[in-house]
Amino acid sequence: MNILLIGSGGREHALAYALAKSPLCDRLFSAPGNPGTAAFGQNRPDLDVADHAAVRAFCAAEAVGLVVIGPEVPLVAGLVDSLAAAGIRAFGPTKAAAQLEGSKGFTKDLCAECGIPTAAFARFTDRDAALAYLTERGAPIVVKADGLAAGKGVVVAETLEQAQDAVRAMLGEPGAEIVIEECLFGEEASFFALCDGTRAVPVGTAQDHKRVFDGDRGPNTGGMGAYSPATILTPALERVVMETIIAPTLDGMRARGIPFTGILYAGLMLTADGPKLIEYNTRFGDPEAQVLMPRLAGDLVPALLAACDGDVSGVAIPFDESRAALTVVMAAAGYPGAVMRGSVIRGIAEAQSDENVIVFQAGTRAENGQLLADGGRVLTVTALGSSMLEAQARAYAAIARIDWPEGFCRRDIGRRAVAREVAGGGI
Ligand code: AMP
Ligand code: GLY
Repeated sequence: MNILLIGSGGREHALAYALAKSPLCDRLFSAPGNPGTAAFGQNRPDLDVADHAAVRAFCAAEAVGLVVIGPEVPLVAGLVDSLAAAGIRAFGPTKAAAQLEGSKGFTKDLCAECGIPTAAFARFTDRDAALAYLTERGAPIVVKADGLAAGKGVVVAETLEQAQDAVRAMLGEPGAEIVIEECLFGEEASFFALCDGTRAVPVGTAQDHKRVFDGDRGPNTGGMGAYSPATILTPALERVVMETIIAPTLDGMRARGIPFTGILYAGLMLTADGPKLIEYNTRFGDPEAQVLMPRLAGDLVPALLAACDGDVSGVAIPFDESRAALTVVMAAAGYPGAVMRGSVIRGIAEAQSDENVIVFQAGTRAENGQLLADGGRVLTVTALGSSMLEAQARAYAAIARIDWPEGFCRRDIGRRAVAREVAGGGI
C-alpha cells in the first residue's frame, strides 16, 4: 500500500521512520516533508495540503491507500472529511471531532456534561466579565485562548496582574473567546489512546517538558523534550484514565453524533484528587512521537488501519517495555519567540554513530549539501537505553557531537524520571 504522510516536523520524521518499516508500506510520500522524512520516501513539497482537492487528486494518481495526518491544523481544517468523502482512508478525526483540540471551550463543555475530571472553568468573550471573574477567583489562575495556538495560547498566571494582562491580550480582537480555569497542581503526564469512534486502546505514555528553560521556567513552548514510558502513570492509574476520562469522552462524542477516530492524546495533571484532564490533542504529540515510535516493537500500520476501519478491539500496539526513550529538542536561539533561520548544522552523522541514537529533524532545510536551521524547534535528539538514566546520558552525549552554535537545548530533560529511577523504581 502507498502511504501519504502529512506534515513536516520532528513528529512526522518519527512517523515516517515507523511507517516505512511496515511490510504493508510500499511507497511513502511526505507532504511537505523535511530532510529527515526524505530518507524514508519521497517528499512532496509541491503538494499544498490546504488544497483538499489537490490532496484527493494526488491520492488517486499515486494509488495512496492510507493518509496519515501528523499536525492539528489539517485535521481542524477538515482534511479527513474531504478524503473520506472521496473514499480515501485517512487516519485522524473529522473536523467536528477535532474540536476536542481545536476548541478548549468545546472540550470543557463536554467534560462538564460527561462528568470528566478537569479544572473548574468559565468561558468568556466579554473582557469586563472575564476581568470580574478573575477578581472573584484570585491568583494563581489559568487563562487560555479558545483556538489553536501551537501550545502557546496558555498563561498560567501567578498574580492577578498577569492574569489581567493575559485577558486583555487574548480578548483584544472581536470574536475572540477564552477559557479561564482553576490552577491545578501535580505532575503532568501524557496518555495516548487509539480510537475507532466507539472503543479505545492505550498506546503508550510520555512526559513532555513544556517550558523553555531548565527547571520548568520561562514561557510555554510546543515541547522542549520528552521521555517514554511515563512511569508515574502506573497501570492502575492508566485504568482510571481509561475509565474516567477516555471512555466518557468517546461516549459523549458519539452521543453528539461526532464519533472520534484517531489518536486521543490526553494531557493530564496527576493531582492529589486523581488524574484530571488539562487538554486534549487529537494526534500524536511532538516531541512525544519521537519517543513513542522508537520504542515500538511491532507494526504501526495495521493499528492505524483498524482505527480507520472502525474496530480497534483486536489491536494491541506492542512497545519494547525493556527500553526507555528520551528526546531532547534543539531549538534556534530566541524560540519560542522570533528566531534566525539559515545557520549551518553539522555533526548529525557523528551524533548517530551511537546505534541507540536517532536525530529527528523538524525545522531544517537542505541546501547545497548543507543542513540549515529553518524554524524554532530544529532537531529532536532521541536515545534509547535499558534505563532512563542511560537514555538521558546517550542523548546528551549525542548533542555534544552536534555542531550548531546558534541552537540551544534544556539540560534537564528527564530529571524527574531519572530521580525516581535512581530512587529505586526501574524504568
Ligand atoms: P495546554 O495547552 O492546555 O496543554 O496548556 C499548556 C500547559 O499549561 C500545560 O501543559 C500545563 O503545564 C499548563 N496548564 C494548563 N492548564 C493548567 C491548569 N488548569 N493548571 C495548571 N497548569 C495548567
Ligand atoms: N508536545 C505537545 C504537543 O504535541 O502538543
